[in-house]
Order: sequence, then C-alpha cells, then structure tokens
Amino acid sequence: MERFSWECRTKVCFGEGCVKEQLEPLIRGIAPEGSIMIGYGGGSVKKNGAYDDVMSVLETMGYSTDRAEDRRIIEFGGIMSNPTLAKMREGAALARDNNVGLIIAIGGGSVMDCCKAVSAQARYEADAWEDFWMKGRPMTHDIVPCGCVVTMPATGSEVNGCAVLTNEETRIKCDRDYPQMNPVFALMDPRYTLTMPVRQLRAGTFDILSHIMETYFSLPLYGNPADDVSEGLMRGLIRDFRAALSDPQDIRARSNIMWTASLAENRIIKTGKSKDFQAHNMEHQLSAYTDCNHGEGLAVLHPVYYRHIYKDGLPKFAAWARNVWGITDAEALRSESFAEEGMSDEELLAIAGIEELSELIREAGLPSSLRELGFGEEEKKLLPEIAQSCFISEGAFRPVSADEILEIYEECW
Ligand code: NZQ
Ligand code: ZN
Repeated sequence: MERFSWECRTKVCFGEGCVKEQLEPLIRGIAPEGSIMIGYGGGSVKKNGAYDDVMSVLETMGYSTDRAEDRRIIEFGGIMSNPTLAKMREGAALARDNNVGLIIAIGGGSVMDCCKAVSAQARYEADAWEDFWMKGRPMTHDIVPCGCVVTMPATGSEVNGCAVLTNEETRIKCDRDYPQMNPVFALMDPRYTLTMPVRQLRAGTFDILSHIMETYFSLPLYGNPADDVSEGLMRGLIRDFRAALSDPQDIRARSNIMWTASLAENRIIKTGKSKDFQAHNMEHQLSAYTDCNHGEGLAVLHPVYYRHIYKDGLPKFAAWARNVWGITDAEALRSESFAEEGMSDEELLAIAGIEELSELIREAGLPSSLRELGFGEEEKKLLPEIAQSCFISEGAFRPVSADEILEIYEECW
C-alpha cells in the first residue's frame, strides 16, 4: 500500500427531517459573524422542499432577506451545471461585499462546488483560481465556512474538499481537493432527491460508480482493505441503481445511493491507492469544450478506456469481474463473441466484466457514444484539440498519451 494520511472534516447528518432538526444547532456551533449566504442552482430546490426548510430555520434564528445589516440572508442563485469561474467570482464578490460568515450550498455537485470555491476566494486577496486550481499552492488562509444541503447524489462533493470549475476563456475544467474546503457540515435528506429527473438519476449514479472504479483500478494490484470496500460499494450501487430505475420513488434505493455517493468520495476508498481518474480527465475537457453532462460523458468513455488499459491491470480487472459482476467460469466465456483466440482466463474475465459494464449503461438508458451524447460534426472537429488539452493521470495503470486519448474519443464516436 502507498503511504497515506486520511481525514474528513465534514460532519454528516443523514435522514428524513435532518435539515429542520440539525441546521440550527450546526449554525450555533459555527457562530458565524455577519450574514449567511445561500447558494442554489436553477430553481429545483424550490420544488423539493430544501430551500423552504433552510429558509424557515434561518428565519426562526432571526435571519432575513430584508435586514439592512447583521443577520441578513444573501441569495446567490442561478449556479449552472458545470459551474464557471465567472460565476464563482460573482459569488465571491457578493460574499465579500455583504460580510458573509457562512455559506450554505443547497443542490447538487455544481452548486456545492461553486459555493466551496466561493468560500476559498471570498477572503483571499489574490486570484484563487490561479493560485490553487492552476498552481496547486498550499491553502493557508482563513476561508469562509461552507455547509451543504444535498439534493442530488453524485459527486460526493458534500464530504470532500474538491471543487470543479470551468474557465470558459481558457477552456480548462479543473478540480482541486483541499482539506480546508471540506464542507463544515453535510445535511442529507433523501426525500429531496425524489424530484430528480430520471436523466439526472442515471447520470448521477453512473458518476458514483465511476468514482469507485477510477479508484479501484489503480495500484496496488493486490487485495487491500480499500478495494475490498470498493467491491462491496459497487455491488450495492448496481443493485440500488436497478431498483431506483425500476421504481424512481423507491426511497430505500435512493437513500442507499445517496450515502454511497458520499462513501465513494470521502477519501476512505482512496487510502493506500494511487488513483487513476483518467476517464474524469478526459470527460472534464469534453465538458469544458461542449458543456456536456458529467455522468453521461463518463458513461460513454469508461468501457472504451478500459478496453485500452485492462491488460496493464489485468489481475484487478479479473477480480472485478469475479467479485462485482459474479463472473467466475472463464472457460464458458470462450464461446462468447468478444473472446479471441489465445486469450488467457484472466483476459476473458476482464473483457467479460467490461461487457457487463457496457450492458448496464445500455440497460440504464445512458448514452454509449459521443453522438448519443449530442455531439455533431462541429464537436467532432474539436476532438484533436480537446485531446491535447487533457490532464494526464499519473495514478493510472498506464499513462495514456494525447494521441491515445484522441483514439479513445474516436472509438467513442
Ligand atoms: O440547477 P437546479 O435547478 O438545481 O437543477 C439541477 C441541475 O439541472 C438538477 N437537480 C439537482 N437536484 C435536483 C435536481 N432537479 C430536481 N430535483 C432535485 N432534487 O440536476 C441538474 C444537475 O445538477 P448538477 O449539480 O450539475 O449535477 P452533479 O451533482 O452531477 O454535479 C456536476 C458537477 O460536479 C462536478 C462535475 O464535473 C460537474 O461540474 N464534479 C464534482 C466533483 C467533486 N466536487 O468532488 C467530482 C466529480 O467527479 C465531478 O467532476
Ligand atoms: Zn465524477
């Protein structure tokens, strides 16, 4: 195992009614000075009850949108999916001008990421994007605390220090994980997720699976506690995904998915691992150029990427086929259409596992090609430039080159 230190500074309260019960004591514990800012997206939070629940707690505590000075509620709405650097800067200026002492993000990953980045920029004199996202400098300044009320399980942003922003001018989408940016609290009421459109349920759940796979498919290859946990999480997530797709109102499945999103990204399954995330790097740049949906982009890329690299991590891919997909009889696979002459048992198992993943993507109604993702001839012309702009992961079984990324994109067409 690699050396590691592990921490997760976020206090999580999970379950029905947690906002009404826990938000007030949490705010009292933080004792913020000045105003409280609430961040949200395009309006879904006003339909699923999350916004009303937060506002009613704040109003009981004496906060209001019309107060002139102290204890004001500052609204920062309209945070878009794939949040931009410009939107983050707008929020940081609003927080600074209104003496904001606490930010509450209400929404999915985009809202949480944008608010976490605002919390890092608001009291920072220089350019946070340049210093932290681009240069990765240590974060030592005092940041505005940020708490999350989650309405969409996907990114796990509620329990880590990661925030992903898109610089629209340079067309760079970049993530950074600073422990200082871990939310001070995460309130997770699964009922809020019931209003999610099925498209977001599919995309968000695939993103969770992607986070686990990107971590699992990295060194070391031998069995270890983090990967044992990952295998269990993947089996459970696939079960709950199928249950939620067949009955989107299945609150048990929705609750399980919500907590799995956090378990996948609270860094516990990353302990002692090298971490690949090349599929994420390739998706982030597709998104930077086209604003495509994150989980859907990952669904297109994963099987193709894995067909490129499985031989470099063969024992892990074979273990995945056995322990996650339940495929054990390699001999029986020799008659399958994907079997090629001379393939070893481990290769057959690995390929069969990747086939199962493709099948799940089709079954769930996720896109399997860039065309299904909405790409046309204009986007196709951009692929060489997008491939050149991707970050290359150092934690993968084998680093891919920009040329190979282009091949992967073309095979995804
Ligand atoms: O904007 P609103 O109206 O809130 O609608 C949102 C949005 O349209 C809607 N939604 C959320 N909760 C809902 C709901 N609609 C109805 N009912 C609800 N309960 O869903 C849409 C998508 O929301 P968004 O927050 O964009 O999705 P997601 O959570 O997938 O976040 C995507 C962003 O997170 C980044 C992605 O790159 C992308 O920018 N990521 C962040 C990570 C992190 N912080 O650790 C890691 C990830 O790998 C990822 O890169
Ligand atoms: Zn992701």
